[in-house]
Amino acid sequence: MKIYYAAASPFVRKCLVVAAELGLRDKIELVSAAAHPVNRDQNVVAHNPLGKIPTLITEDGAVLYDSRVICEYLNSLGNGHLLPREGKARWGVLVEQSLADGVCDAAVLTRYETFARPEPLRWKEWIAGQLEKVTSGLDLMEARAASFGDRIDLGTIAFGCALGYLDFRFASLGWRDTRPHAAAWFERFGARPSMVATRPT
Ligand code: BEZ
Repeated sequence: MKIYYAAASPFVRKCLVVAAELGLRDKIELVSAAAHPVNRDQNVVAHNPLGKIPTLITEDGAVLYDSRVICEYLNSLGNGHLLPREGKARWGVLVEQSLADGVCDAAVLTRYETFARPEPLRWKEWIAGQLEKVTSGLDLMEARAASFGDRIDLGTIAFGCALGYLDFRFASLGWRDTRPHAAAWFERFGARPSMVATRPT
């Protein structure tokens, strides 16, 4: 398999952590791709009209996106232990993934607005609106993290990648200051080999 990727993307990271936790990481070749909201990478567009990463090409040539689809696919190739098969536990994990991905969406859009968009065109209120989503998402993540224990699944992996992205691009937010449960949990979770190997630099 090969995956179009950029090391800074929290969505790519989620897929690579999932692959590592399933013992599949060495089956995936990394293909560097430009992730820019305006200048799309034509090598990715050739496979995925949205031009977005991560995009995965499977062994039999199927093209999979977005990160949620890729993670479910990898989980099905592994022994499937990262996503409960049914019931309340399944929906709980999927919503946790949506929450963490939503925090990443808002953070990445803020990053694009403050770095990619020409300065005279930037919209302060829009940035503030995105950062409010990050803040209220983090508050719910704090409540959930209190009961995570040693869970390793799609929900906790998505949380870890979201918190890692905030550390990487938004350290000044100081998300730990008012979120002791998430901070303590991330201290342990972030030390997992799968997380250390994919830490953005
Ligand atoms: C970033 O540089 O922050 C970034 C890169 C790719 C996807 C998302 C974010």
